[in-house]
Amino acid sequence: MTENGFINAQDVMFAYEPEEGREPRNVLDGVTISIQRGEFVALLGHNGSGKSTMAKMFNAMLLPTEGKVFVDGMDTVDEAVLYEIRRRVGLVLQNPDNQLVASVVEEDVAFGPENLGIPPEEIRVRVDEALKAVGMYDFRLNAPYKLSGGQKQRIAIAGIIAMQPDCIVLDEPTAMLDPRGRSEVLETIHRLNEEKGITIVLITHYMDEAVQAGRVIVMDGGHVLLEGGPREVFSQVELLKKHQLDVPQATELTYRLQGMGFPMPCTLTTEECVEALAAYLPPVQAVP
Ligand SMILES: Nc1ncnc2c1ncn2[C@@H]1O[C@H](COP(=O)(O)OP(=O)(O)O)[C@@H](O)[C@H]1O
Ligand SMILES: [Mg+2]
Repeated sequence: MTENGFINAQDVMFAYEPEEGREPRNVLDGVTISIQRGEFVALLGHNGSGKSTMAKMFNAMLLPTEGKVFVDGMDTVDEAVLYEIRRRVGLVLQNPDNQLVASVVEEDVAFGPENLGIPPEEIRVRVDEALKAVGMYDFRLNAPYKLSGGQKQRIAIAGIIAMQPDCIVLDEPTAMLDPRGRSEVLETIHRLNEEKGITIVLITHYMDEAVQAGRVIVMDGGHVLLEGGPREVFSQVELLKKHQLDVPQATELTYRLQGMGFPMPCTLTTEECVEALAAYLPPVQAVP
């Protein structure tokens, strides 16, 4: 059965090959996730909850031991559609250094479409467009190793865009970046989502990144613990804390103040938090 989502994972179970003499353990234990076309979804959960394993299910790098994953209606176990699935869903990993293969930026971006057998003149157009989309066109003749972490990650994203995917899954793409690199990458993926309608699945442990998503899915112990809009998810502070999961700093502060008897709303961002706190401050006296 396929639902109407672009990606539908249904009751997915998965166990890695166990070490000698060990029993296999389900690292995915019945995951059901549906991603609609055009969505921006953040996938959260602490280390070992199965996020990266799930990311690999989304483009058939891994196949469920039980359950099903459908991409655009295609079953990921069907080898005949593997190419079509990989073309639709691109995966960006944490470390940009492991993803860049060529010694010149534009050659790197061309690598994916070359593997897809796209004609050279079409590749030229796609590479230029992809580099412009991530704001790296001026660096097309540079050597990737000389770029900053954020720039390298944008090149890796350009390499995926050049394959014209419908969806990009990013597995902690900002974890190794400095704050500036992080915001460059974040802005880039939001722009791709808004302007090109590319579906984004962002795996992250930064709560401020999750707050900006359209929907948040929280995984815990190989299954989905919670999902919904950022406000809906992060207002469940107690449940999240019980599972040793973080909430945004603003949410934490307003939650504690609520506990101390200050009636105030659940806030997600610094701006919202400031506004909630301002209600308790005395009015500013005009300086005579
Ligand atoms: N290649 C592998 N072989 C065996 N076990 C693995 C492998 N990759 C991950 N695991 C285990 O699977 C579980 C889930 O890992 P992962 O999907 O990487 O979680 P997350 O990305 O949320 O940290 C962890 O317990 C991890 O140790
Ligand atoms: Mg991971």
